[in-house]
Amino acid sequence: MSQETMSSARERARSFDHLDPAVADTVHEALGEFRRGCPVAHSEAHGGMFVVTRYDDLRHVAENGQIFSSAAEVGAVVVAPETGGVIAPLFEQDLAEHAAWRKHLQSFFTPRAAARHTGYVRRVAAEVVAELRPRGRADLVPDLCARIPPLVIASLMGIPEPERPVLASLVRRLAGAESEEEAAPVGQEYTGFLLDQIRSRRGADGDDVLTSVVNSEIGGKPAGDYELLKFAFLLVAAGNLTTTDQLASILLELARDGELRARVVADRGLIPQLVEESVRHESAVAATGRTVVAETELAGVPLQPGDRMLLTWGSGNRDERHFPDGDEFRLGRPRRPHLGWGAGAHRCLGLHVARVELRVILEELLAAIPDFTLPDGFVPRRTYGVIRGVRALPVTWPV
Ligand code: HEM
Repeated sequence: MSQETMSSARERARSFDHLDPAVADTVHEALGEFRRGCPVAHSEAHGGMFVVTRYDDLRHVAENGQIFSSAAEVGAVVVAPETGGVIAPLFEQDLAEHAAWRKHLQSFFTPRAAARHTGYVRRVAAEVVAELRPRGRADLVPDLCARIPPLVIASLMGIPEPERPVLASLVRRLAGAESEEEAAPVGQEYTGFLLDQIRSRRGADGDDVLTSVVNSEIGGKPAGDYELLKFAFLLVAAGNLTTTDQLASILLELARDGELRARVVADRGLIPQLVEESVRHESAVAATGRTVVAETELAGVPLQPGDRMLLTWGSGNRDERHFPDGDEFRLGRPRRPHLGWGAGAHRCLGLHVARVELRVILEELLAAIPDFTLPDGFVPRRTYGVIRGVRALPVTWPV
């Protein structure tokens, strides 16, 4: 690597802002350049942060919570409401406090617990697909991808089935708001809905995630309403936007690669591999943050308490030292632990639920509509930020 290439990577990194919509189309090219030229690159965005791009460095940060804290992240909690400095249980906790919450929640997220959602996901997915099929056209992002994940999260939180569409509609309206003025009243309604859910569970029976955390002393103390509110917001965000956008990335791949689609339609047993390769190739959780709490160094870069780190998971998944031809989407790659679900203590708690959802929705879609295509010359508009997705998938199919 020449000095010139390294300094050009450093220069590009200086203005890198993961929340700027303009970075989305060329983000892998930019992260690849940082990985090779300045793997822990300094950006001036958001008051300054270090962009971590290599697989081994990402793992190191994620596995050392005593140095790299989750308590104050770089842009990872933008979806949570302002609750006066309250720390969100689980998501923003470290070490022993975090471990206590994780242990408490574990039983709701095992492979066996996740499999219990199969019937509900299949029923809802079959209904949505049956409604779409006679139309012969759809924008698969709002019409399919965004419709099922909020219902599943609502079910996990023990929201009765008739009220689940209320949560789905609130998150859709919030995500679709185009200005802060438009988002504010929806945010208030959403906050009110979740607070009602939390308060109505006090003293109630129920074997769902929310009732359980409302009525337990975790780590030796009960959580207050606002801690629980922040937890609920982040749980919905973690389970909803992620799965919606991962599905969109998978469908984009299937829509533009007819050969891949034909293989998967002919052998639905390939769907779990398809899902896993998509989580490696375009992890829906693109970039989350940590804050340095003890002096250290990473890839030769000295770090001080207060320095903020941006973990670009998708970059680690294309790190040429671990994934040859990482930019290529390829079924049948040798199985290797990738970073699409994160790593360390905060590794995705809901990954088995996500796998069930994505598999079942794809099974239902491909059985009913195996031959959807995008318009000729379609150029996808991608998103990047905390979440990586696709804005629209306007497909048609023969009816
Ligand atoms: C394809 C979909 C998904 C992807 C790619 C994904 C990815 C991730 C990643 C990368 C992290 C780690 C973030 C960090 O360490 O900064 C994470 C954490 C988390 N995810 Fe997921 N996720 C997905 C779906 C879900 C679902 C469906 C749920 C819930 C049902 C969920 C619940 C969580 C929770 C609770 C955490 C925080 C864990 C902790 O802090 O200990 N995720 N996810």
